[in-house]
Amino acid sequence: MDKRLLTCASLCVGRHIADIGTDHGYLPCYMTAEGLCDTALACDTAPMPLDSARKHIAENGLGDRVRCILSDGLEKVPLEGLSDIVIAGMGGELILRILESCTKLKNAVPPINLVLQPMTKWDTLRSWLYENGFTVTAELPCISGRFVYSVMQTHYTGETPPYACDLRYLYCGLVSPDSKDGREYLLRQAKRLAAASKGKAASGDHETACAMQALAAELETSLSHT
Ligand SMILES: C[S@@+](CC[C@H](N)C(=O)[O-])C[C@H]1O[C@@H](n2cnc3c(N)ncnc32)[C@H](O)[C@@H]1O
Repeated sequence: MDKRLLTCASLCVGRHIADIGTDHGYLPCYMTAEGLCDTALACDTAPMPLDSARKHIAENGLGDRVRCILSDGLEKVPLEGLSDIVIAGMGGELILRILESCTKLKNAVPPINLVLQPMTKWDTLRSWLYENGFTVTAELPCISGRFVYSVMQTHYTGETPPYACDLRYLYCGLVSPDSKDGREYLLRQAKRLAAASKGKAASGDHETACAMQALAAELETSLSHT
């Protein structure tokens, strides 16, 4: 298991998980084999990845605890009794479309813990979560190979989250600079902000360009002191 998926596993809180877009089924197999959950649903929209997950489940003798489901997002995934849903390794827009299409998600009592790891468009996903009553409760950065990811833990409250949906939240989420991975994530976001500010300036949006530039500078200055 790579560090990115281990980070996802570490943000699960309950005993019955669903992994959406499971591909080889590594996460559900790891979590059940290690006793981190009792049962898992390995779900994917495409038959070939699911065949690979089935093979992995059988090889590890986990067939009685990990069930495969062919499903577009959460469409065919039974939510009853689920404690956690992991959606990792996909674009932020696809993750939000999967959440948006599942209206039952908002009715789950107790709320289902969502663990989300976007590869792109983290700002779009964070904004959508904020606007749609999902509070992010934790966010862990993770360096894996050449990349630095952020893994979000969130659930539906139906209320406005207790933090602002400002530029810092959109780019950095709740990532803290207290670890090497956190500092690296924030440094990369500062570089992205600086690059994006040039694009905004070129398109004539000088106000946003200035705000982006200022946040990039603030992040770089505070990171140079840690
Ligand atoms: C890049 S893999 C990520 C695998 C694993 N979750 C990880 O993070 O390493 C993306 C997987 O998501 C699946 N997928 C794409 N769109 C999906 C959807 N709408 N619903 C379920 N699975 C989807 C793909 O078939 C593929 O197996």
